[in-house]
Amino acid sequence: MRRTLVSIDVGTTKVCTIVAQAHDEHRLNVLGVGLTQSKGVDKGVIVNIDDAVSAIATSIEKAERLSGYRIDTAYVGVAGRHVASLNSRGVVAVSHPEQEITPYDVGRAVEAAQAIAIPTQREVVHIIPRAYIVDGHEGIRDPVGMSGFRLEVETHIVTGEVMAIQNLIKSVQRAGVEIDDLILQPLASGEAVLTPEDKDRGVVLVDIGGTTTDVALFVQGGIWHTSVIPVGGAHFTNDIVYVLHTPHNTAEYLKLKYGTAIADADAVHDDDLIDADTLVVGERQQISRQLLGEILQARAEQMVELIYEEIQRSGYDGLLQSGIVITGGAAQLPRFDELMRDMLGMPVRIGKPTGLSGLAESTDTPPYATSVGLLYWGLRHGQSESPYRGAGQNGWGRASIYDRLKNWLREFLP
Ligand SMILES: Nc1ncnc2c1ncn2[C@@H]1O[C@H](COP(=O)(O)OP(=O)(O)OP(=O)(O)O)[C@@H](O)[C@H]1O
Ligand SMILES: [Mg+2]
Repeated sequence: MRRTLVSIDVGTTKVCTIVAQAHDEHRLNVLGVGLTQSKGVDKGVIVNIDDAVSAIATSIEKAERLSGYRIDTAYVGVAGRHVASLNSRGVVAVSHPEQEITPYDVGRAVEAAQAIAIPTQREVVHIIPRAYIVDGHEGIRDPVGMSGFRLEVETHIVTGEVMAIQNLIKSVQRAGVEIDDLILQPLASGEAVLTPEDKDRGVVLVDIGGTTTDVALFVQGGIWHTSVIPVGGAHFTNDIVYVLHTPHNTAEYLKLKYGTAIADADAVHDDDLIDADTLVVGERQQISRQLLGEILQARAEQMVELIYEEIQRSGYDGLLQSGIVITGGAAQLPRFDELMRDMLGMPVRIGKPTGLSGLAESTDTPPYATSVGLLYWGLRHGQSESPYRGAGQNGWGRASIYDRLKNWLREFLP
């Protein structure tokens, strides 16, 4: 039977709801897309619930109308500066009398890894087992059935602020939809634009959105580091407003129509001038394309530096053979990939969601990486005991560690 799934990406620029039917784990038939301008969201966090609810509700209605499907539940992305991640190791002695590792041992090991101090205002969003070590032998993906005395697990733990998460849940629920699961946005984007080979060979996913850039580093098939940098596409636009004194919508137009991340003097001529508004009503100005390019290049270079710093901060110093995959709306700025390649000396490609059919024309572009990735996440990892499901408005039922573990184990074990 084909499964129908729904995702809601509450971004800073847009809210996007997608209804799709799954062919298999790698192919989705898009039935409907509901896109609307985002409101009440700043740097990935909801700052005005009423505005956010109205934008989310509009996006849901549009998707329902287009697909003819009534949306009851959805996979929802979570992001923002409040999200933090760390790697933690858990160790247990194998309990079986004949030293054969069982799912129970794996569960205990993951539980041990979670025995870290998490402040009360923070909540665990994901506990992802990355790899296992049996009696000192590293890099084991599935230890169940193996013999050993000592089982260790390396996990990636993502936490977020309870209030920020609660406001997101509340907003989606007030728009009339229950949550299947909350997924960290870059993890979702990774599901849509990265291949298993990328993750095996080492890759950095960079989702450049409206006011945030999400970074996720994968090595040996698993997630190693996640973080959020508070700059995005809107900063390019604001720079144009600031330097050229244009209205905001003119600056956005100039960026989308003439923007480039490399101000190449050879490619533009002195007389390449653009007629544009000024901040004074009725007054016009002539803007040089070279200057526009220089403004954008300065910001793009700063973003590449911040991304590089984040890669260094991850503590991973091995090879990232698959390099960097950029996605999100601002990854479409012409020559951004080229600039990054030149500056970092690593392979860089633009990531677009794959495996789509149906109403796919627009959804297979970078701004939809998170929306499509949420669907793939739901398809591949499921949610049956998600702690967020059916969360009440007055306290959202913090699931016990054990419940979460059972959930995760089912997802990651055969
Ligand atoms: N062709 C393009 N060239 C340059 N920038 C672009 C282009 N298309 C879209 N953008 C920029 O991408 C940004 C929006 O990206 P996206 O839709 O991924 O954001 P979002 O998901 O709503 O935000 P966030 O993920 O930060 O919450 C805007 O700043 C927009 O100007
Ligand atoms: Mg986004």
